[in-house]
Amino acid sequence: MTLYINCCVRSESRTDRLARAVLAGMGDYTELYLPEMPLHPLTREMLDRRSALQAAGDFEDPMFDLAHQFADAERIVIGAPFWDGSFPSVLKVYLENIYAIGIVTDYAPDGTPVGMCRAKELVYVTTAGGRYIPDYSYEYIRSLAGRYFGIANTRLVMAEMLDIAGFDAEQIMQDALRTI
Ligand SMILES: Cc1cc2nc3c(=O)[nH]c(=O)nc-3n(C[C@H](O)[C@H](O)[C@H](O)COP(=O)(O)O)c2cc1C
Repeated sequence: MTLYINCCVRSESRTDRLARAVLAGMGDYTELYLPEMPLHPLTREMLDRRSALQAAGDFEDPMFDLAHQFADAERIVIGAPFWDGSFPSVLKVYLENIYAIGIVTDYAPDGTPVGMCRAKELVYVTTAGGRYIPDYSYEYIRSLAGRYFGIANTRLVMAEMLDIAGFDAEQIMQDALRTI
């Protein structure tokens, strides 16, 4: 199963357009539309509940459903526009919610993270109004995937300079679509 993590807030999203082109070559997929999901930043109460469940080895609680879905996906596509040098905050909230030790990652006795995810590939799709700087978006996801989730194979698909006067946004999109 391919999992599409859609973080595109605008209905006319160009990032989503690129992501759908990537997904077109991947067969069936399950989509999570994060902007309309009841996702909440972790509260003290949620943390305490999660820790108690983990300590008891109880990973079947519905609180872990998203983490299991992420860990079980064979391929993951994240579509997230470039916002404020990074990505929409709903993606960070999603990551907080799925980042369960014992499901997506674990630690070896020496403290080294051991990834527990099945995915063979994670594709990060983005578009930027100006120049795309990957440090706090793709590079962060790549680091998490490789070091903590066990997903060594990541790739970036992107289009940039879409909001800069004098640049032909549709032509840039067509060029990006051709590379997919
Ligand atoms: C809230 C917000 C923050 C943005 N921040 C940046 C930014 O830091 N750098 C940049 O180049 N473009 C920025 N942009 C422009 C978007 O990256 C660009 O319009 C992108 O194509 C939007 O993707 P979408 O069409 O999928 O919504 C921002 C746009 C919004 C709405």
